[in-house]
Amino acid sequence: MKQLNVGILGLGTVGGGTYTVLKRNAEEMARRTGVNIKVTHVADKNIERANALTQGEVNVTDDAFALVENPEVDVVVELIGGYGVAKDLVLKAIANKKHVVTANKALIALHGNEIFSAAQKMGVMVAYEAAVAGGIPIIKALREGLGANRIEWIAGIINGTTNFILTEMREKGLAYQDVIGEAQRLGYAEADPTFDVEGIDAAHKLVIMSAIAFGMPLKFDEVYTEGITQLAQADIQYAKELGYIVKLLGITKLTDKGVELRVHPTLIPEKRLVANVDGAMNAVVVQGDAVGPTLYYGAGAGAEPTASAVIADLIDVARLKDATITQRAPALGYQADQVQDLTVLPIAEINSAYYLRMYATDKPGVIASVTKILADRGISIDAVIQKEQPSDTTETDMVVLTNKTVEKNMNAAITEIEALAAVTGNVIKLRMETLG
Ligand code: HSE
Repeated sequence: MKQLNVGILGLGTVGGGTYTVLKRNAEEMARRTGVNIKVTHVADKNIERANALTQGEVNVTDDAFALVENPEVDVVVELIGGYGVAKDLVLKAIANKKHVVTANKALIALHGNEIFSAAQKMGVMVAYEAAVAGGIPIIKALREGLGANRIEWIAGIINGTTNFILTEMREKGLAYQDVIGEAQRLGYAEADPTFDVEGIDAAHKLVIMSAIAFGMPLKFDEVYTEGITQLAQADIQYAKELGYIVKLLGITKLTDKGVELRVHPTLIPEKRLVANVDGAMNAVVVQGDAVGPTLYYGAGAGAEPTASAVIADLIDVARLKDATITQRAPALGYQADQVQDLTVLPIAEINSAYYLRMYATDKPGVIASVTKILADRGISIDAVIQKEQPSDTTETDMVVLTNKTVEKNMNAAITEIEALAAVTGNVIKLRMETLG
C-alpha cells in the first residue's frame, strides 16, 4: 500500500489529537483512501512531551525548519498557530513542494491570498478545514457540497468561548466579568482571550467563509468587528422577553451594493434552530439560491473534533496529491483567475433591523417623540416596551425593535433621540437578524 508521510508542526492540543486519531483510525482511513496515512515526523519545542506521546514511533525534532526541508515528508501539518513563524514555515514547506494542512485561521485570514498563490505556483495543496468551526466540515460544504449554488448569505456562531459566555449570561443572569474566567478555565479561549471576546477570532473564520462563498480575496482588514465586552445583562434579558436570543454572529451577505462582512452581538428569533445552539458549540447557517437555508452544527474546538477536520484534509491530500491542479478543488473553491475583488460595504452601509434601548423619563409623549423620529426617517417599528418605573426615579428603560434600514439612517435617528430632553445618556443599539 502507498504511504503518505505526514510531518506535524506542533504537538499541542490539536497536534496530540491528530496523532491519536490518526493512529486509532488508521485502518479505517486506509480502507477509504487506499493509502497508509502515517505520521513519520514531528517538530515540537517540548521534545519530552512529543516523545511521551509518540513512544519512539516517529522522528521527533525541535527544529521545525528542518522538518519542512526534510525530503521524506510529503505533507506538513501546521498546528503552531499565529502568523509569525507559522507563516515562514508554511511558505517554506510550499517552496519545498510539500502539501500543507493547517488549522490556523489567523494565518489563512491574514495571509491566505499570498499562501494560496504560492501553492498554486508550486502545484501543491493548502487545506484548512480545521481553521473554521473546528470539527464542522463547513469548508467542504461551501467549496464542494454547495458548489451548484449562488451563496446569498452565511451567519454563524463561530466562536465557542463567546457562545459559552452568552449562554451563561442568559441562563444564569451573570455579568460578563463573572463568566470570562470560567471560559478560560474550561480551555475554550484563545491564548489571548481578547481575540475571542472582541470578535477577532470570529472575524478570522468569517472572512475565510466569505472568500469561499463569493469567490473573493480574503479581506480581513475590512471585517467590521464588535465583541461582547460591552454587552449588558439587561439587553440579554429584554431580548429574551421579546422572543429573541443574543448571539455573537459572523454574518456575510452578497448584496447589489457589495458584500456585508460583520461580527457583532445579534438578536435572533428564539424559534430558529441556531438560536438554541448553546455552550461552546458552533453552528453555521448557509443560504444558497438552489438549496435554501442549510445548517451545520458541531464542536468548534477541542482536540479530537479539530483533529477530525485536520485528518479530513489529509485524506484529501492522500487521494489527490498525484492529481492535476484542475482535478483538485481550488483553494477558495473558484478557479484562481475567477476570484473577484468584490467591494466590502462599510458598516454604515449595511442593512439591518435594530434593537434600541434608552433610559427615558416616564411621562406622556416620550414614546411618541421617539417613534416620530424613527417614522420621519422611514424606519418602521416592530415592537415597543417600556419597563415598569422603579419607585425611586421618574426614568425607566424603553426598548424599541425596528424593521430594516440602512445603518447610517439608524445612526442619524439615534443622534436625534439622544438629543431629546426626556432621554438620558446614550441609546444602546444592537442589530437583529431574522435568518429567515
Ligand atoms: N477560541 C476558539 C473558540 C477556539 O472559542 O471558538 C476554536 O477556534
